[in-house]
Amino acid sequence: MSETTHSQVSFSDELLKEVNRVIGQFPEGKQKSALIRVLHIAQAEFGWLSVPVMDYVARLLHIQPIEVYEVATFYSMYDTKPVGKVKLEVCRTGPCMIEGAEKIVKYIEDKLGIQDGETTADGIFTLKTVECLGACGYAPMLQAGEKYHEHLTEAKVDELIEAYRKNPVANYMGQETNLNSAKS
Ligand code: FES
Repeated sequence: MSETTHSQVSFSDELLKEVNRVIGQFPEGKQKSALIRVLHIAQAEFGWLSVPVMDYVARLLHIQPIEVYEVATFYSMYDTKPVGKVKLEVCRTGPCMIEGAEKIVKYIEDKLGIQDGETTADGIFTLKTVECLGACGYAPMLQAGEKYHEHLTEAKVDELIEAYRKNPVANYMGQETNLNSAKS
C-alpha cells in the first residue's frame, strides 16, 4: 500500500460516525481512552498506520501526535509500515518457542524468501513475530487476519500459505475459507 498524505486521510461519514460513537463512550476529557480502538479502525481502513493516519487520529481525539505514535509503536498488532494482504504473525513467546516456533519462523522465512518484518515482493505476505496471542495451549501458533492457526507443522504452514496465496483477501478478512484442513 502506498504512502498516504495528510490531505488524503479521512474516514468516510459512516466510519466517522462509528469512531465518534466509540469516543463518546468515554467521559469528557478522557477521549484518549478510545485510542486503541480508533487505531484498530484506522488500520483496518487504511491498511497500516502512516504518520498522516496517526496525526489524523490524534486530531480526532484531541491529543498530541506523539501520544498516538507511542501506542502505535508499542503494540505489535499495529503496523507503522506497509504490510502485505496477509500478515502471518507467529507467536515467539516461551510456550510457543518450546514447541518449535523458532523452526516455524525459519521455515516460513525460507519458504517465502523474507525475514521477520518483511513483505514478499508480490505484496501478499508479511511475516511478523509477536508476543503471546493467548493460545499457549495450542503452540506453536500463528495469527493471520482474524484467524488462529494452531499446532503448526511445516505441512500445515505449506497448506495455509497455499490457500492464502490463492485467495489472500477473503482469507485475511476472516470469511469462509478452504483452510479447514490447515486448522488444528
Ligand atoms: S506463548 Fe504462544 S500463544 Fe501464548
